[in-house]
Amino acid sequence: MELESIKKIYAGYSKVYDAIFKRFFYPRIKHAVHSMGIAPGDKILDVGVGTGLSLPLFPKYCKVTGIDLSSAMLKKARQKAKKLHLDHIELLEMDAMNLNFPDNTFDKVFISHVVSVVPDPYKVMSEVRRVCKKGGRIAIVNHFKSKNKVMAGMEKIFNPVSKKIGWRSDLCLDEFVKKAHLHVDKKYKLKKIDLWHVIFATNHK
Ligand SMILES: C[S@@+](CC[C@H](N)C(=O)[O-])C[C@H]1O[C@@H](n2cnc3c(N)ncnc32)[C@H](O)[C@@H]1O
Repeated sequence: MELESIKKIYAGYSKVYDAIFKRFFYPRIKHAVHSMGIAPGDKILDVGVGTGLSLPLFPKYCKVTGIDLSSAMLKKARQKAKKLHLDHIELLEMDAMNLNFPDNTFDKVFISHVVSVVPDPYKVMSEVRRVCKKGGRIAIVNHFKSKNKVMAGMEKIFNPVSKKIGWRSDLCLDEFVKKAHLHVDKKYKLKKIDLWHVIFATNHK
């Protein structure tokens, strides 16, 4: 998907995103943020922060930078941050494939439901690894292609449709981990039958 199409799609979603997706996405977002081991003073990057479902979960003793391509999604995130007085959060419009931060800026990076949305997930992960400090933690929440053959077949059929509505459904977890050069500490699903994975990796440079 091209960046302009992504912007258009998410401009459309921004008004209804929380009403539609929060019930599905929030449990894993909450689990992953709480499991990141955020320490006082940590600098956190939230890549593709969207409407900011994750924002109220970050403790006030860290400093969070949320970036997103979509100004409409960011507008919602800014409203949330203002309403909840989240003064430890900064929100910036930016392309995740071209992060405007120096190397080794962040202690931890959070990226939920984004790697199957961006045109090049490996460019994003290369940027994430660059801006994350050595030994820093990377937490990813995402849908990956099912290992069940019937489900994988259905996802393949559904993929052209899902791309039109904003994400791809055929990203393979093992291939993603390998091509993104991720040193995975843990990868699991929150429930036995679940569409999304939670992944924790340590940033080895
Ligand atoms: C499915 S939403 C996920 C939002 C949030 N992380 C969550 O879990 O609710 C995907 C987000 O990725 C953003 N996005 C897509 N491509 C991007 C890019 N190249 N750079 C930054 N953000 C991007 C979209 O604008 C959208 O807000």
